[in-house]
Amino acid sequence: MNIIVTGGAGFIGGNFIHYVIKKHPDDRIVCLDKLTYAGNLSTLAPVMESSAFRFVRADICDREAVYRLFEEEYPDVVVNFAAESHVDRSIEDPGVFLQTNIMGTATLMDACRKYGIRRYHQVSTDEVYGDLPLDRPDLFFTEETPIHTSSPYSSSKASADLLALAYHRTYGLPVTISRCSNNYGPYHFPEKLIPLMIANALNDKPLPVYGQGLNVRDWLYVEDHCRAVDLIIREGKDGEVYNVGGHNEMRNIDIVKLICRELGKSESLITYVADRKGHDMRYAIDPAKIHRELGWLPETSFADGIRKTIRWYLENREWWETIISGEYRNYYENMYGNR
Ligand code: NAD
Ligand code: DAU
Repeated sequence: MNIIVTGGAGFIGGNFIHYVIKKHPDDRIVCLDKLTYAGNLSTLAPVMESSAFRFVRADICDREAVYRLFEEEYPDVVVNFAAESHVDRSIEDPGVFLQTNIMGTATLMDACRKYGIRRYHQVSTDEVYGDLPLDRPDLFFTEETPIHTSSPYSSSKASADLLALAYHRTYGLPVTISRCSNNYGPYHFPEKLIPLMIANALNDKPLPVYGQGLNVRDWLYVEDHCRAVDLIIREGKDGEVYNVGGHNEMRNIDIVKLICRELGKSESLITYVADRKGHDMRYAIDPAKIHRELGWLPETSFADGIRKTIRWYLENREWWETIISGEYRNYYENMYGNR
């Protein structure tokens, strides 16, 4: 199979490329990535020289560049990971989220219509369902839960999902969508909760917990998400949405305390800061459909996954220290300086 993976220099896309190259050595992967602040070529260093891999720097919104790539590659499958992905940045400046997440998705699907495709897969998020109350632990997001977004980020992702379903119904484009819960693991950009807390704790810096830290996220080890996407593109049904998650709900404050314990750091580093605007309270995925229809189940427990993740950050300091010593310093000062 010839697969175009967009956003492959980012966290999940990069892990997906490593996963597919190992699992399906006969496949060819072409990574299309703009290399925004979140894209990192060193994430792809282990596969850069592989004959089964090609990297192309381009913007998914650049119609000419996207069409040119399709004319060169005639992909069987497109998996779209490319996105602006950080909720806090979308609250500061929504414009680029609308451009990349909505217009970029439309541009990719237009190319799929023009040149033909076996499958276009849209990597979406559980955030399109909004949030659940803390006092109703019996409630979960299913694929039938209404779209009800909170942030510019989740609204842009929901818009892309609606477009993808419209392209399926109107043009018969063979589309699938996955909506996954929070991922963690290697190559996670240190603006996000888990890698930020690991990096700050290792540097004995304050650990900024929003509000009271009681918000709940449903954490999944990134390789389990990659396996789900890989299954969907090969065995999923056109026009279907699949929720992906492993019933692993945790409060933010408990994650931060766990990271302190694992690293032997004092909880006195924890600093409560002003809450995120419109902060979603709880996410919780019901993954029954993907289990029933495709046999998917998570394989990595949180206890194992978080230890593997912490070990990766300890063994790959250069990867994240290069990031946090660059432009990231301005971002951090702007986001946390007067919080
Ligand atoms: P990320 O921010 O780590 O990586 C995004 C990648 O996309 C980067 O390599 C960046 O350079 C690239 N990119 C951004 N704009 C682009 C453009 N216009 N053209 C081409 N490339 C562009 O993101 P991530 O956390 O790996 O998330 C990947 C996808 O998975 C996103 O669509 C996100 O919405 C979704 N998702 C993420 C999570 C999570 O927990 N991180 C959970 C569920 C779904
Ligand atoms: O649920 C899937 C989503 O998970 C993806 O669609 C997004 O792309 C991804 O970024 C993630 O969104 P969250 O907003 O849940 O992740 P984040 O790591 O930014 O925050 C997780 C929780 O931790 C959230 O409740 C906010 C809180 N938080 C975050 C940061 C960065 C803090 O308390 N302090 C922080 O410094």
